Amino acid sequence: MAWPPEPIRTERLVLRASEARDRAAFMELLASPEVHTYLGGPQSPADLERETPAVPARWPGSFIVDLDGAMIGQILLRRATKHRPAAVGKLDLGYLFLPRAWGFGYAAEACAAALGWLAGEFPGEPVVLTTQSANVGSMRLAAKLGFAEVERFEAWEAEQWLGMRPGAAHA
Ligand SMILES: CC(C)(COP(=O)(O)OP(=O)(O)OC[C@H]1O[C@@H](n2cnc3c(N)ncnc32)[C@H](O)[C@@H]1OP(=O)(O)O)[C@@H](O)C(=O)NCCC(=O)NCCS
Repeated sequence: MAWPPEPIRTERLVLRASEARDRAAFMELLASPEVHTYLGGPQSPADLERETPAVPARWPGSFIVDLDGAMIGQILLRRATKHRPAAVGKLDLGYLFLPRAWGFGYAAEACAAALGWLAGEFPGEPVVLTTQSANVGSMRLAAKLGFAEVERFEAWEAEQWLGMRPGAAHA
């Protein structure tokens, strides 16, 4: 796929590739205990300072979600590799937002736009998503985005939920 695409504009947000000015917010995202409640724990600020490149998370499929010129979250679109048989090889959606941006519908708005872009790049392909079933906000978001349960399984000492969204032609 061609990367980066032109920035994707929604009603309130812009989805774009990362830039050097996102580094502080990106480190804040990865160091946040709240963000990592269901994701295996945050990273230490010292490690992040050492290991985060000048332009963080710049790879095909990594969208920065921008509100009024500042990063509020990241959307990750990848091919699932090591995963459940039903998910291997499929497009996989992930999302992380800064806690101060929760509760405004930004994640839903950004993910819907990313899925629309993905449908244009890979018409008809389904998308999978994995989240802990205890992660209520993420489960609600998955349902809103049209993901339906494939299976639940135990991993990383917790129940995980694998959902799938059927492929759609680009609108
Ligand atoms: C998962 C996560 C992205 C959900 O964020 P969120 O802000 O709760 O999600 P949404 O964008 O769907 O917004 C939720 C709420 O905003 C409210 N809202 C307020 N204004 C709104 C508006 N203008 N439009 C839509 N919704 C609005 C909605 O009522 C909605 O609440 P509901 O789900 O109770 O109906 C966030 O909790 C997060 O980043 N968690 C840490 C990372 C993580 O666990 N990721 C999952 C693994 S991939």
